[in-house]
Parts: sequence; structure tokens; C-alpha cells
Amino acid sequence: MRLDRYLSKTLRVSNKQVKLWLESGQVALDNSPCAQGEVVINRFSRIRVDGRLLPHDTPLYLLMHKPAGVLSATKDRQHTTAIDLVKAQYPQLDTSDVHLAGRLDRATTGLLLLTNDGAWSKALTRPEQKIPKTYLVTTEQPIPGEARDRFAKGVWFEREGVTTAPAQLQQLSSNQARLTIYEGMHHQVKRMFALYHNPVVALHRERMGNIALEPQLAEGQCRPLSRQEIEGV
Ligand code: URA
Repeated sequence: MRLDRYLSKTLRVSNKQVKLWLESGQVALDNSPCAQGEVVINRFSRIRVDGRLLPHDTPLYLLMHKPAGVLSATKDRQHTTAIDLVKAQYPQLDTSDVHLAGRLDRATTGLLLLTNDGAWSKALTRPEQKIPKTYLVTTEQPIPGEARDRFAKGVWFEREGVTTAPAQLQQLSSNQARLTIYEGMHHQVKRMFALYHNPVVALHRERMGNIALEPQLAEGQCRPLSRQEIEGV
């Protein structure tokens, strides 16, 4: 929404009054004077008129170390959800708008991002954005040597009618590899290994773009993202 429309709507004043405030330097946006009514603001913009701060939301960006068995969901009757864990750690927090920026299967562990900023999560999960996601994969059977080249060429997914973006597979041992993919299709990693009839027995997300899960963050715990991590998306 434009700043001038927001001011007239929120403070129930005329467009003329808003213009006067803007022109006389009485309006500040994110702590700097702002005279441009046409500037587009969001729900987190900090707007002051004559020094008085107008109501706004507080943006929230969290990284969770998701344990196995926890659902990537906001509500569930049967299973513990990621939001249940956020509430347990931050009981005072308003989690009503908090949602997941990219899901993990229930058995998958590792990096899960949560936010109340819909524009940010959309930017992060847009398929065109091609954000790299790195997983530690453990399989039931040995991983065939040719998987590296096959994944690098892209794999045809019948259901979606797409070929996956070239993925990087780094073999760590006979049954373990680090895999970087660029989409977030349903069960993507498991389906890639299913080409070899090789079930994934453990899957752990280590990284999304410039955001990495550090080993010292205990399972089930969250930490706020840094400014650099938020802005790097
Ligand atoms: N790929 C999968 O198969 N499962 C996940 O949880 C994430 C990626």
C-alpha cells in the first residue's frame, strides 16, 4: 500500500492533510524523513507522524532445527507441529501469522525456516528463485557411482512434467551423500533416489541459500535469523 493512502486510512484524515504533513517533513518512514506519499510500505514499515509511532507488526524470522516426527505445519490434532515448538520456546510470541518457508517431511530433520513475513517466504520458495538446498542423505543401499552425473543432468519428474535443475551430489561414503537441489518438489530427494529403487533412510537439511544450520543448535530449538541472512534472500 502507498504511504499516503495508509496515512489517510489509518488516521482518518483527508488527502490534503496527509500532503501537508508530508511536505512539512512531519512524516518519517523507517526512521528517516519521507516526503513521498507514493512510496510503497508494508506491514512492517515503521511510520511516525510528528514523532508518534503508528501501529505496525514486528517481523519475525526464525531458523529451527527440526527433529524427526515433527510436522511441518501450523496445526495438527495428532502430531507435534513446528509451531508448537516455537510456542514452547517463545511463549509470549504472537504466532498467529507465523508460517513455514519451505516444508520438510515428518521424518526429515534439520533446517526449517519460519516467518510472519509472507513476501519474504514467497521470495524464498518461488521456484524461479532457484535457491540451493543442501541435504545430507543416507540410503538403504549403496549409492551407484553414476547417480552423480544423472542428477547433474536433471531428472524427469512425470507428475510435474519437469526436469529437475542440475543437482550436485557429493558422495561421502557408500550409503551417504550430500545433495544440493534447486527446487522444492514434493518428496524430491526421495524420488530422485527412488530412480535407483534405493530408499532414503535418513534425510537432514543443512542449508538453504546463505542460511546454514549450525551443529550447536539443539534439535527442537530455534534461533532468530541475522539481518544478513534475511536480506540475503
Ligand atoms: N526431499 C524429500 O524427499 N523430503 C524432504 O523432506 C525434503 C526434500
